Amino acid sequence: MENSKNTLLPGGIVVRSYRIPVPGVRKKVLYHFSDSHLSVYDELCTPEERQRAEEGITGWEKGREAFARAYHQPCTKEQKLSAEDHFGNLVYHASMDGDALVLCGDVFDYVSGANVRFFEMEMADLPMPFLAVCGNHESEGFIPEDSLFAKVRNPVQVLDLGDLILVGVDNSRRQITPAQNAKLREILALGKPVIIAMHIPIMTEGNWRVLLECGDYFRLNHPDVDTATLEFIEILKENAGQIVAVLAGHLHFPDDSEIAPRLPQFVSSQGILGCINRYEIGG
Ligand SMILES: [Fe+2]
Ligand SMILES: [Fe+2]
Repeated sequence: MENSKNTLLPGGIVVRSYRIPVPGVRKKVLYHFSDSHLSVYDELCTPEERQRAEEGITGWEKGREAFARAYHQPCTKEQKLSAEDHFGNLVYHASMDGDALVLCGDVFDYVSGANVRFFEMEMADLPMPFLAVCGNHESEGFIPEDSLFAKVRNPVQVLDLGDLILVGVDNSRRQITPAQNAKLREILALGKPVIIAMHIPIMTEGNWRVLLECGDYFRLNHPDVDTATLEFIEILKENAGQIVAVLAGHLHFPDDSEIAPRLPQFVSSQGILGCINRYEIGG
């Protein structure tokens, strides 16, 4: 598989572009980003909530640059916008020609009222459907049930685009349950092409060196992995071809590899530095 290259656009946006040929699927454009680590405060916050948000902002100003330096990714002056500005820019960029948007987790640095309010405001007028899966930074905390963000806590989500199904799988605790596997098998039995979206990537033959260096925290198939999680990875491999791609985040640097022949895994880099993936899918 040929790896994509970064293209820097005005507004500090960094795009990696891919083509996924899928016979029988009408041409679609899909955008995917993750790890925006929003740490928002607003006029409704208490002083303590504001302080926590400010600490998050300060921490990630350094953290995002450290990831970019360590993994040889661009970190230009134009990219040094706030997490909120990047999030708004990426959503706007995706809305220009996207048929759907996938958010692969850690959109928030932590779940808070202000972060949920910001998300609602930014996503309210999105002209296309979106799927957001839970990151490890979002697996705790109260999310109002009627919020646009509440769906991230569903173990398996489905976004049906007609001739292509996007399936969001919550693996934010580095674990998959037997119930999630059963649901995935049900969806695959429909026979339609599927794209899987999740937060924690899988260590593959193509990325094992870098993921081993990163540590167990960064992969789904870690040394203490349980049988249901291993079964999930086997389901993906057995259905390579029908599953046309796996999208993930969490690493804070881009990674393209294959889970199995005909089953690519695309890990998006950090949204908090303006990074987004674009896929042209279809015949
Ligand atoms: Fe993250
Ligand atoms: Fe993460």
